[in-house]
Amino acid sequence: MIENLDIYNFKEDEHEDDSEIISDLKNSDQKRINSKHFYDKKGSKLFDMISELKEYYPTRTEIEIIENQKYSFRKKLPSNASIIEFGSGSNKKIKKLLNALNNPKEYISIDISYDFLIVNAKEIAKKFPKVNVKAICADLYQLESINKIINDNSQKIGFFPGSTIGNFSQNDAKKLLIGFKKILGKNSFLIIGVDLRKDKKVMEKAYNDSKGITAKFNKNILKVINKKIGSKFNINNFEHKAYFNEKKKRIEMHLVSRENQNISLKDHDLKIRKGESIHTENSHKYSAAEFEKLVISAGYKKIDFLTDKKNYFGVFFLKVVDN
Ligand code: TRP
Repeated sequence: MIENLDIYNFKEDEHEDDSEIISDLKNSDQKRINSKHFYDKKGSKLFDMISELKEYYPTRTEIEIIENQKYSFRKKLPSNASIIEFGSGSNKKIKKLLNALNNPKEYISIDISYDFLIVNAKEIAKKFPKVNVKAICADLYQLESINKIINDNSQKIGFFPGSTIGNFSQNDAKKLLIGFKKILGKNSFLIIGVDLRKDKKVMEKAYNDSKGITAKFNKNILKVINKKIGSKFNINNFEHKAYFNEKKKRIEMHLVSRENQNISLKDHDLKIRKGESIHTENSHKYSAAEFEKLVISAGYKKIDFLTDKKNYFGVFFLKVVDN
């Protein structure tokens, strides 16, 4: 029992996903799996390993930006605030942010992977005994349920690192940003990380590492789906593929079938041809100007834009426009 930690689980009674998984897999234009299914315990661990790879520049670049700007964070952000992290993953970034702020009052950690969330929230609660920690197991499509347990009047700082925003289409990204405003309320801030468009080779390498961890991560989604819906995907029959789609300005990840297959999805069958793919992830890459336009259209104003020497990654410091 940790005094300053409360746990909420919105994932436990969730079975409504199954029919969506099946219809996505059967989509006649392009078979796909929603990327939120990457993050079971194993997937979260693999992603953590990806974030340490030399080819995967976003995590380390973002951490470096936060570290370099900690005094400016302290100066510009309110004290006694409540920090809400959307999709927490590992603790590396939040520790830096909590250390930079003046007397943070509360840390609300939202993550999709229960075990991972709890282990990390416990660590923060112990390390920052004056901070009240709320761990909420939910995905970012559950903002309304999340909002119900976040209702005090404290000033809020939203934290959305890792370019997770890039994993949504522009339309969905805008909707998500508008959803965040409801949770954050008036006078609040949002610190959001976004991966910037750069040399295609650099971007593609980040999703095709030499150790094959990203390939493992990609294939693990099939194991998650097997467990969830009782399907019989054999991961050895698929190949990892990641490339930059120039037209859509995004890295796409796919699982390409090595042969013609007929896969049991429990009550359904899935036919997949040799060379056909299941689309598992998009990671949109923005220019700073494009991203600024997006956040302004969602009702934020830019306080600051921070980047690294190479302009690889951007951290936007935003304020909710009150209306
Ligand atoms: N937001 C990260 C990104 O787009 C998360 C991510 C999703 C990822 N899929 C990945 C990272 C595959 C590495 C490999 O980069």
